[in-house]
Amino acid sequence: MNGQGALSGGWLAIAGLGPGAAGMVTPEVSDAIAAASDVIGYIPYVARVAPRPGLTLHPSDNRVEIDRAGHALSLAAAGARVVVVSSGDPGVFAMAAAVFEALEAGPASWRDLDIRVLPGITAMLAASAAAGAPLGHDFCAINLSDNLKPWAVIERRVALAAAADFAIAFYNPRSRARPDGLDRAFAVLRGACDDDRPVLFARAVTTPEQELRIVPLPHARGDMADMRTVVIVGSSRTRLIARAAGPLLYTPRSIA
Ligand SMILES: C[S@@+](CC[C@H](N)C(=O)[O-])C[C@H]1O[C@@H](n2cnc3c(N)ncnc32)[C@H](O)[C@@H]1O
Repeated sequence: MNGQGALSGGWLAIAGLGPGAAGMVTPEVSDAIAAASDVIGYIPYVARVAPRPGLTLHPSDNRVEIDRAGHALSLAAAGARVVVVSSGDPGVFAMAAAVFEALEAGPASWRDLDIRVLPGITAMLAASAAAGAPLGHDFCAINLSDNLKPWAVIERRVALAAAADFAIAFYNPRSRARPDGLDRAFAVLRGACDDDRPVLFARAVTTPEQELRIVPLPHARGDMADMRTVVIVGSSRTRLIARAAGPLLYTPRSIA
């Protein structure tokens, strides 16, 4: 870091690459990457950026978010044109908040930097579109990872979301380190919801590996999801339209 801040000509864009399909990267994000000198992010996200002369790629492990954010801010302060990449939207369980945490704790000169957040299509919206419109009425999103918050907080939020009759999108539903979190969330929901509540497992949405599966809540199991899956549990109003081409899942816009 050289402490020159905005005078250095560097900038930092925190960009969302969307859920996977190249066509879902916004032109604004593509333009920022085309103008960048450095791209920083988790290894599989940086792998989605084409190498070219003049562009340095900085892939890093997922567990070093704050270090990565500090690195990005330091490079921008030294005059680099930096893009931090996230999948989906960078403000949804991703790098934008991590960069602002590092900014708040860092040197005062960082606050003069040119910093922009460039939105992307988040996984729950891509999944909702692929299945129909299950988020057509009020909904919430809950991250099931307990890396950064206690499980008791997650369980309480799941129970309150069910009591409020939101449709719920679960991000980070399952990992090798957390094999049982989604089953525990389903157990909470079974205590609060009717048996016909539909559950959408949307895996690798918009990629060639995309898989959609809809089951009623009593048949939903944690092992139907992995870390590439977003799970959407319908509200009491969410319904299925049967079609030869596959069902459409939607939540009506009104409550009669
Ligand atoms: C760390 S969060 C990042 C979310 C991302 N910032 C977003 O807005 O989509 C990673 C989680 O997002 C979800 N996810 C990301 N891409 C996905 C996709 N193409 N299909 C299904 N779920 C996806 C999964 O739940 C995954 O565990």
